[in-house]
Amino acid sequence: MSKSKAPKAAARPFHVTLFGATGFTGRITAEYLATCSDSPHLKWAIAGRNSAKLEECKRAVIALNPQADVSIVVADTQDYDSLKRMAEQSSVVITTVGPYLNYGEPLVKACIEAGTHYVDLTGEPEFVDGLIHDYQTKAEEKHVKIVNACGFDSIPHDLGALYTLQQLNQLLGPERAGKVPVKIEGFIQAEGTFSGGTWHSAITQFSRLREYGKKRKVWQQQAKTRPTDRRRTRVLSPIIKYCKSYTSWAIPFPSIDPQVVKRTASGRKEYGPDFAYGHYILTRSLPKGLAGIAGAGALVVLSQFEFGKEKLLKVKDPGQGPSPSQRQKSWFKVHFTGEADGLHVWTEVSGGDPGYGETAKMLAESALCLALDKNLPEAYGIVTTGTAMGEALIARLQKAGIQFRTI
Ligand SMILES: NC(=O)c1ccc[n+]([C@@H]2O[C@H](COP(=O)([O-])OP(=O)(O)OC[C@H]3O[C@@H](n4cnc5c(N)ncnc54)[C@H](OP(=O)(O)O)[C@@H]3O)[C@@H](O)[C@H]2O)c1
Repeated sequence: MSKSKAPKAAARPFHVTLFGATGFTGRITAEYLATCSDSPHLKWAIAGRNSAKLEECKRAVIALNPQADVSIVVADTQDYDSLKRMAEQSSVVITTVGPYLNYGEPLVKACIEAGTHYVDLTGEPEFVDGLIHDYQTKAEEKHVKIVNACGFDSIPHDLGALYTLQQLNQLLGPERAGKVPVKIEGFIQAEGTFSGGTWHSAITQFSRLREYGKKRKVWQQQAKTRPTDRRRTRVLSPIIKYCKSYTSWAIPFPSIDPQVVKRTASGRKEYGPDFAYGHYILTRSLPKGLAGIAGAGALVVLSQFEFGKEKLLKVKDPGQGPSPSQRQKSWFKVHFTGEADGLHVWTEVSGGDPGYGETAKMLAESALCLALDKNLPEAYGIVTTGTAMGEALIARLQKAGIQFRTI
């Protein structure tokens, strides 16, 4: 089937539309777009279902930057036509309307139909796997990039692994780069707290783990029938280990991140014939780490029951989040080790408040990269930040203050 190009930015009123601008992360993202280095030439819109809240959000944007060229678009996930109209007006739609398992799919459909690139903040694996199953081919045919997990889930890990691979391949040289097995491990250290929206998304995904497991088996079976190249990409089996270099215990971290890194490795040949990735959280105290695992397990068990799920959802309301002073004290570092053919590299990605300040920056820069940057990789469909934008997004994030460095 012939592929149709996504419409050019100049043909549409907005470079970027931010859907969910009235929510906790949406507001921080709007503030970032109002003040970022692209803002002087950016035509953009804030979107949501509540006009009064959007007007208030616009006033906050104009207070930060009186020159901001920002409009309001009203759209609701319950009204597909409104989503389609919103998608048709913009080169890229950003969405912070979660839980994505509840609200995400109609907007993805509308963006694909409108030929509009899409970025979100999901960390919900069932949502992403469902999109790959249902929309991969349609999005590829339309030359559209649907890029999930453009926040702390999973940018530091996906682009950190890519950055580490680049350093490793430089050491390997052209003779061996991309031709030998590679192992990369990521170790997270972070301080921060989360919003009501993040809590609701996590509990929603936990409550569906059994259903997701069943669906996943079917999707994986169907995926096997599709042609693939012969390269092997995998996630390392989870083991707890002591890391002398960080004087900490490494506890396997079962987030969406390893799957995202694996998908990027599948989509880029320079990851070599056999790529393995391990993903951990560091803790100095093993009992504290084990208590964390037990706590997460208890949440999963409780969320299987309607009564338990309802109780858990009441713990934090959507729209709430950490205070500015809590956010100011928050930070993250992801340490990476890379090894191939007897060579080793150590790298680090670091920044401030992982959940909100830096997430808003990563999300906005992902959208700006898709809307404004030239010569991005020719990868379309349900794609990762590493395959859709790769080096161009690393460069943007470095310029915006997120550090990628070799130790
Ligand atoms: N680590 C990460 O990558 C990361 C970090 C931060 C957030 N997230 C994810 O981002 C999402 C948002 O989190 P948050 O804390 O910002 O949530 P939030 O404060 O609850 O905001 C949700 C937004 O969705 C809007 N919304 C809800 N239902 C809608 C509908 N039917 N139509 C249109 N808009 C609707 C809300 O609009 P109203 O204002 O009108 O209610 C609000 O603007 C969550 O899924 C969270 O997990 C991920």
